[in-house]
Amino acid sequence: MSGVPTGRDSFGSRFGVIAATAGSAIGLGNIWRFPYVVGENGGGAFLIIYLAFVVAIGLPVMMSEFIIGRSSQRNAFGAFKKLAPGKPWFVVGLMGVTAAFMIMAFYTAVAGWTLEYIYLSFVNGFEGKSAAELSSMFDQFRSGSMRPLIWFFVFMGLTALIIVSGVKNGIEKYTKILMPVLVLILIVLCVRSVTLQGAGGGLSFLFKPDFSKITAKTILEALGQAFFSLSIGMGTLITYSSYIQKKENLGSTALSVAFADTMIAILAGVAIFPAVFAFGIEPGSGEGLVYITLPNIFQQMAGGYFFSVLFFLLLGVAALTSTISVLEVIVAYFVEELNMNRKKATWAATISVSVLGFMCALSWAGMKDVKLFGKNVFELLDFTSANILLPLGGLLIVLFVGWYLGNKRTKAELSNDGELKVSYFKPFMLVVKFIAPIAIALVFLQQIGLLGF
Ligand code: PHE
Repeated sequence: MSGVPTGRDSFGSRFGVIAATAGSAIGLGNIWRFPYVVGENGGGAFLIIYLAFVVAIGLPVMMSEFIIGRSSQRNAFGAFKKLAPGKPWFVVGLMGVTAAFMIMAFYTAVAGWTLEYIYLSFVNGFEGKSAAELSSMFDQFRSGSMRPLIWFFVFMGLTALIIVSGVKNGIEKYTKILMPVLVLILIVLCVRSVTLQGAGGGLSFLFKPDFSKITAKTILEALGQAFFSLSIGMGTLITYSSYIQKKENLGSTALSVAFADTMIAILAGVAIFPAVFAFGIEPGSGEGLVYITLPNIFQQMAGGYFFSVLFFLLLGVAALTSTISVLEVIVAYFVEELNMNRKKATWAATISVSVLGFMCALSWAGMKDVKLFGKNVFELLDFTSANILLPLGGLLIVLFVGWYLGNKRTKAELSNDGELKVSYFKPFMLVVKFIAPIAIALVFLQQIGLLGF
């Protein structure tokens, strides 16, 4: 890929576009982060708010990123510079690159945990262990050794390797086949989980809303999770859609991706919570929830060995198709704005992310005393990027499309210059101009207590 738009790489097929975008969206955000955040925020009521945010804010932000990316054919920073020359909008791109650094650091650390769990599955490391033992096994791994750091580097290296080879060869190929298999295994896990004794409590936790559990923090976390899971608010999809061909239908692509992403999060919830209740695990136990719960399920099912190896492998792949998309934001920026070649840009990005990543991987070990606002480095980056930077980026992105690009250019891009019918255009503009920005702003205001509810 070069800095000149004509020589840019692009996705080869319609399915390739959806696969790569879905590959970015679907990952640890759905299977690791969603259950742990739902667990910490009281279940059903959180789920409803989350779903509302996906539809009312997430989808329009995703389409806005597509519009910006495809019409500019640039990275997250360059896109704003090209579409709004001489205006300060490029700051949105810089925020995105910053968020990419933060997410890459802690996300790759969690992806590293997945590698440990692939290894443990292979050596049959869960066998015969009680729920309490599996829980302390996770804690010991995270706090007592250098392994999280080693796995972090392995995963970072894998991501860099794929990124060096470019978008099309690297990304499209892997996502196409493996995602559907992951969905199948998730469904098998759901069946096992809901048929465990005592599973009912988990289903009502997830699906029976208890609105007394809603606080200002819950609402912010639901918004953050929606952004994080859809990979929006930081220019990942601006970058990816800059490789989308002119004939693709942006609206329907966004709809398919958001739908698939949300279904997988819900499937993950149905796989996890019944088991959480059946095994007496605390739903609010935080970042370890999935890594503690799943091995319990595998132990209780026929073919558990086979399924656990396969599941963690695929989870690793799902994580990889997401880390690729995050690193690509940084690399595309380095290549197109700082004129580095792709290889050098990948190295520069990898090394700088690794400094932050080092602190994340050891956040429960050697770095556990480094804390700010009561959060270790990992928790701080997780919270700040998902709940603050992404929604703030999303707010600016919809404002940019609604008010700066305006009706004519937006309609031209969405309709492929009049070729597609965009019957949803009017409501879309209403949402990006008013509804989404006001909703995001309200969530933020409510945080600082200005609204007092
Ligand atoms: N959406 C990805 C996931 O759910 C994570 C991600 C966030 C990727 C932000 C890119 C940008 O796993």
